Amino acid sequence: MDVIKLGLGGFGTVGSGLARILDMNSERIAKRLGKRIEIKSVLVRDLNKKRAFDLGPDVTFTDDPAVLVTDPEIDIVVELMGGLDTAKDLILNAFAAGKHVVTANKHLLAEHGLELFEAAKTHSVGLMFESSCAGGIPIVQTLKESLAGDEIIKMFGIMNGTANYILSEMTTKGMDFQTALADAQDLGYAEADPTFDIEGFDTAHKLCVLIRMAYGVDYPLSEIPIQGISSVTPMDIEFAREFGYRIKLLAHVMKIGDKLEAGVHPALVPYTYLIARVGGNYNAVRLEGNAVGPIMLHGQGAGDMPTGSAVLADIMNLIRKINDGCTHPDNTGFCNQPIMLADILPPEQSESKYYFRFTVADRTGVMAAITNSMANHGVSIAQAVQKGEAGAEGVPLVIITHETSAENVYAMSEEMDAMDFSVEPCVKFRIL
Ligand code: NAP
Ligand code: HSE
Repeated sequence: MDVIKLGLGGFGTVGSGLARILDMNSERIAKRLGKRIEIKSVLVRDLNKKRAFDLGPDVTFTDDPAVLVTDPEIDIVVELMGGLDTAKDLILNAFAAGKHVVTANKHLLAEHGLELFEAAKTHSVGLMFESSCAGGIPIVQTLKESLAGDEIIKMFGIMNGTANYILSEMTTKGMDFQTALADAQDLGYAEADPTFDIEGFDTAHKLCVLIRMAYGVDYPLSEIPIQGISSVTPMDIEFAREFGYRIKLLAHVMKIGDKLEAGVHPALVPYTYLIARVGGNYNAVRLEGNAVGPIMLHGQGAGDMPTGSAVLADIMNLIRKINDGCTHPDNTGFCNQPIMLADILPPEQSESKYYFRFTVADRTGVMAAITNSMANHGVSIAQAVQKGEAGAEGVPLVIITHETSAENVYAMSEEMDAMDFSVEPCVKFRIL
């Protein structure tokens, strides 16, 4: 039986997950493809590091990227290193050498995706990236293939396993933020720099990639409003629970007229919604197509095996294209057309309900001042509650609003933060 040889760039969490699945499911894979898949060479930083999976004596380890690119026996380069510069060079050099590439690197795709798509087109090779978004959930293929004929009206969901794990552990076990983060790192969910997970950047990278697949346009990373979960406290989780919500880090994009509006924010989700019950490292993406209606995809969004599964699906997809004699793989899902800039709704015009937690001096007139300011800025109150002990320096005052524009919310909260009764800047989250 013919053999397809892989050059792996990176052999950490995802690389070793992929190797394990190739070993575990080798017969099934060969049956499906009529070809065997073998790892030939592996690029790493530290040649002396002990590895989570033993690849056997026939696999070469190297710290020189050129080994993967110049080896004529390697058909597909699989980039699982992360980071920007070395990964980008490896991919571009692989394209130039006529090799197809599979990558899990959403950061690179979000920052340099347009250049990579162009280069893949120039060299008539495949660029596959299912594992870059939502781990094991087949969201890229769903947008590219299964929903190819639908207009996506709205897409939102949980797209970061680490942040979801942290919020779930804080909500269900009362675990503190740092312990939950350390656990997520131990379990292989987090990025090399976990700030990307916590501050919402990783979610925004994925959103950028998915917007391209859904709409065939570029929504630049710099245009996406991003709010992470570092400002979510146990107190907010408790208040949210009392009002009937769970806090989740959500990404969203929706069509508003001819424009797109997108963002990444912690949001209060009614606890009866399926998405509120997505726990641990799981992700969920809810799509609304103009023909199919709503669809929900749910699965593990991070970790060695789920992500390895998505990487392997891409490799097998490429091999099928090779088997079929495909000479110009369509990487974008839009016939490799140039990817134009999205028509973007200014973020200040986006509308949502909001949760506010003010920390204020417990004295007469404070509630009146806040409600006055809200009324003056067109922010309508749905519910309010104040808690705290008499004499405390600052007490929490929580307000849930009706739908209002981000512009109104920011003007009002700036005004309130400047008041002498404000002990801390107010915390504000969207409500789904
Ligand atoms: P990881 O465990 O840190 O592994 C990274 C691997 O790349 C290591 O083997 C490392 O070598 C190698 N590497 C890094 N920089 C290198 C360089 N400059 N030259 C040569 N080798 C280099 O990372 P990971 O969690 O597997 O993630 C890999 C990629 O998958 C990232 O793009 C990440 O965003 C993405 N991803 C991860 C997950 C997940 O759940 N972890 C899910 C989806 C997507 P050493 O081992 O010698 O240090
Ligand atoms: N760090 C990412 C996460 C890995 O936690 O979701 C999967 O992309």
